[in-house]
Amino acid sequence: MMELKASSSLVVLTALVLLFSSSSVSVNGFDIIKILSNHPNLLAFSDLLSQTKLNEAINKRKTITVLAVDNSSIGGLSDRPVDEIKNILSVHVILDYYDVNKLKKLPKTSSWTTMFQSTGNANDKQGYINCTRLPGEQFVFGSAVKDSPPVAKFVKSVFSQPFNISVLQVSQPIVAPGLGDVILPPPPPPYTPPPAMPPKASRKKSNASAPVAEGDDDEFAPSDSPIEAPIEAPAPEPVEAPAQSPPEPKDEAEAPAPSSASRLYLASGVALAGFTAMAFI
Ligand SMILES: *[C@@H]1O[C@H](CO)[C@@H](O)[C@H](O)[C@H]1NC(C)=O
Ligand SMILES: *[C@@H]1O[C@H](CO)[C@@H](O)[C@H](O)[C@H]1NC(C)=O
Repeated sequence: MMELKASSSLVVLTALVLLFSSSSVSVNGFDIIKILSNHPNLLAFSDLLSQTKLNEAINKRKTITVLAVDNSSIGGLSDRPVDEIKNILSVHVILDYYDVNKLKKLPKTSSWTTMFQSTGNANDKQGYINCTRLPGEQFVFGSAVKDSPPVAKFVKSVFSQPFNISVLQVSQPIVAPGLGDVILPPPPPPYTPPPAMPPKASRKKSNASAPVAEGDDDEFAPSDSPIEAPIEAPAPEPVEAPAQSPPEPKDEAEAPAPSSASRLYLASGVALAGFTAMAFI
């Protein structure tokens, strides 16, 4: 009986201690765990901050930026040893305030001091990350250690309370060399400029090779359908037609073939123009 009582009061005590320690909000009135709790896809990241107690270190700061990673990208970290996770994640805590407005005003490349630097355990530039601004207001982050690739893209701003705390979502964890197995980004690079050309070429080819019979309506629906394409449908090789019927331009028997061919060229021209226009939007 005594034992039971003792142990239950121990439970109560423990609960109280837990309650107090978990509500150890910051001097500045923010609690990173509470902030993240509004974002279900950042909960795994949040859990890791709690496990490593980095949340407490974050809440003690007055000016801080946290680079958060969503559930789907955190997998590469969550089953590592806690110490390793702590080191890696403390590189995601920047000892300054950066929100989107400030990002836009940064020079092309800037180097940010992280919480890992303040542990005194950092070698080389492990305690810094680089932020690089790309065209189109895109930003990428990577370890400042020499030759480290900028692996994490800026995704969005999650929370900001100027100029105390900002939470920015990035596409994946940044593992500084020496702090654990580096995580590389997934294969397809998200840059946009190059792909403008190839689609145009392949589209042209498919137009040229598939203009026969019924395909007509579907392929060129917007520009072609009002002109009554179905009438010409039987003519199977519109592309060759012009060459075979040069002399007699007058008759109804001959006329349809060339006109359908030229209509095709017109249509593919329109399609091309459309694609070119789209490429510029
Ligand atoms: C934000 O940080 C500044 C110091 O940088 C501090 O003076 C101020 O009290 C903080 N604001 C809040 C709301 O905590
Ligand atoms: C993210 O992961 C945590 C657990 O790690 C889970 O509780 C939460 O529901 C997940 N969120 C989403 C949106 O899947």
